[in-house]
Amino acid sequence: MGHMMDIDTQRMQHLIEREQQRFEARHPRSAALYERGKHVYLYGTPLHWMQLWAGSYPVYMSEAKGARLRDVDGNEFVDLCLGDTGSMFGHSHPAIADAIARQAQRGVTAMLPSEDGVWVGEELRRRFGLPYWQLATSASDANRFALRLARMITNRNKVLVFNGNYHGSVDETQVELDASGHMRSRTNVHANGMDHDRLVRLVEFNDVDALERELSHGDVACVITEPMMTNIGMVPVAPGYHDALRRLTRKYGALLLIDETHTISTGPGGCTRAWGLEPDIFVLGKAIAGGIPSAVYGVSEEVAQRVWQAKPPVWAGGEKRNNHSGFGGTLAGNQLTIAGLRATLEHVMTDENYAHMIDMATRIARSVEADIARFALPWHVTQIGARAEYMFMPQPPVNGTQAKTGRNGPLEAFIHLYLLNRGVLITPFHNMMLACPQLTPEDVDQHNLAFSECLTELAGA
Ligand SMILES: Cc1ncc(COP(=O)(O)O)c(C=O)c1O
Repeated sequence: MGHMMDIDTQRMQHLIEREQQRFEARHPRSAALYERGKHVYLYGTPLHWMQLWAGSYPVYMSEAKGARLRDVDGNEFVDLCLGDTGSMFGHSHPAIADAIARQAQRGVTAMLPSEDGVWVGEELRRRFGLPYWQLATSASDANRFALRLARMITNRNKVLVFNGNYHGSVDETQVELDASGHMRSRTNVHANGMDHDRLVRLVEFNDVDALERELSHGDVACVITEPMMTNIGMVPVAPGYHDALRRLTRKYGALLLIDETHTISTGPGGCTRAWGLEPDIFVLGKAIAGGIPSAVYGVSEEVAQRVWQAKPPVWAGGEKRNNHSGFGGTLAGNQLTIAGLRATLEHVMTDENYAHMIDMATRIARSVEADIARFALPWHVTQIGARAEYMFMPQPPVNGTQAKTGRNGPLEAFIHLYLLNRGVLITPFHNMMLACPQLTPEDVDQHNLAFSECLTELAGA
């Protein structure tokens, strides 16, 4: 069979209309709530992204537990989206929910440290290898604070980012390469006063020469990257690229920030531990406190020493009064978050849970691959631990520009809607399936069957 996406456009349009009708018939209460939401929320929902789900309007949740989610119309879903990673360890995991509920009765925010907080710091050091840590309320914040630290100790202003990156709402990262390879502000994102030309260098992932060319100016404070790109589809890292990245950042005096917010799907120590990476700064957010707003960032011994020189701690003569730092936040490190962090790290991010999650994701990936082969589709699947994703191109892309060519909005929307109508949620921004510890083989089969049927209908077979 030929290029299915070309030959089936008309069929797909017809199927989309059928699926929209089916969606609307199954979600009347969600429709009514969305109508109300439009009167009070700027984009109809508390977070504007919530409108981006497949379907005429978002599904309004009533409750979620483990791998299952129920909506206000009584529909039940297998959740492979898991809040786009925020609930990677399952909705309301009993160990985390109990710890948070207990703490909620015992004080939430006091701007004081606690014994559990010390345990969390010790565990972060043990698990990820970086000795010194700080907390933030989101991965975006952690990245922003880490970049400030990097600039503070290097006395350089530029940040190097990769084309197609996503690290949250960090102004420096809101750039892209245009068709002629020049950096510009990201389409549809206001530059927010940031002079990207002055403050950012942008290169393609996996391109060692471009990386060296940009670093060799000697003005980059920090390179910020995921271990492999996960936010523009999946861009695997080329063999040797991490070695080059580490060698070149050291050679030209730039710090290396590894953001594992998504790639913590790999295993209990992320790619950093699995691949032996040596970041100067390490960032992790989203799922780390079971979905309670939280992020952590850790720094190497050398970075810590330089930070203490630039801004000494109180025990080394640092200022106690009027001591603005530009990182932190009143609610960072509150006791609810600490309880969520401890429970997640201690009871949920275990080897055993990861083994199961990876097993389930593999079961999904193999089945999707078999369907791709069955219909001879020019698609492929990439799996990174508990996370599997398919892209509409035959081989994994090597960089962000290539990855873009593997996106197909209408086709994605159709598949997502088809799955949603058959009780399976996958993330709106990706063709990503994430497996939590409570996901069962039956849940996986529900997805696999629906995906198979979706392709069968698309192909008109
Ligand atoms: C790699 C990475 N870093 C940071 C973020 C930002 O996380 P948050 O939206 O929780 O600030 C994301 C969000 O998708 C991400 O994928």
